[in-house]
Amino acid sequence: MANEAGTDAPAVDGEGVRRRDFINIAAVSAAGVGGVAVVVPLVAQMWPSADVLAESSTEVDIGAIQPGQAIKAVFRKQPVFIRNLKPEEIEAANKVDVATLRDPQTLAERTKEGHENWLITMGVCTHLGCVPLGTGEGESKGEFGGYFCPCHGSHYDTAARIRKGPAPKNLHVPDYEINGTVVKIG
Ligand code: FES
Repeated sequence: MANEAGTDAPAVDGEGVRRRDFINIAAVSAAGVGGVAVVVPLVAQMWPSADVLAESSTEVDIGAIQPGQAIKAVFRKQPVFIRNLKPEEIEAANKVDVATLRDPQTLAERTKEGHENWLITMGVCTHLGCVPLGTGEGESKGEFGGYFCPCHGSHYDTAARIRKGPAPKNLHVPDYEINGTVVKIG
């Protein structure tokens, strides 16, 4: 660093050195702040905020859900049903002639290969958005053994397909993946 005389010899005035150092540091800091000020808005535009990221997926350990049981979880502030189908419920779903359905889909199309017993759907009736019954112990599962929406009487079967009542569509299947005993939804 050149001293005030324009040479590279160290400054003899200790206070002068400190003052120049402060000026240098202040200049670097200002440049740094300017850099950050430019970068932050770009980053903010490229990435969702932390709370959006936190809500974008839900992980549920399904290891304790026995065949025939279902639970209600929350995904993006809405109920999601996770059901471990019994073999007879799978059989009942597969027996249905898909061509007769209002919203034709097979159970295989609504589950993951190798995990046909795991039926994961939104718990939101496709009529007007009530939460159907059928996950809780002793709750009505409707005439087709799946879910029953008490608001206007929609009955869903063991693949959560609409079978009777005003709902136009099957319960929606969200994106999800199963890793061991953990389901990651979203
Ligand atoms: S909201 Fe479910 S039947 Fe109307």
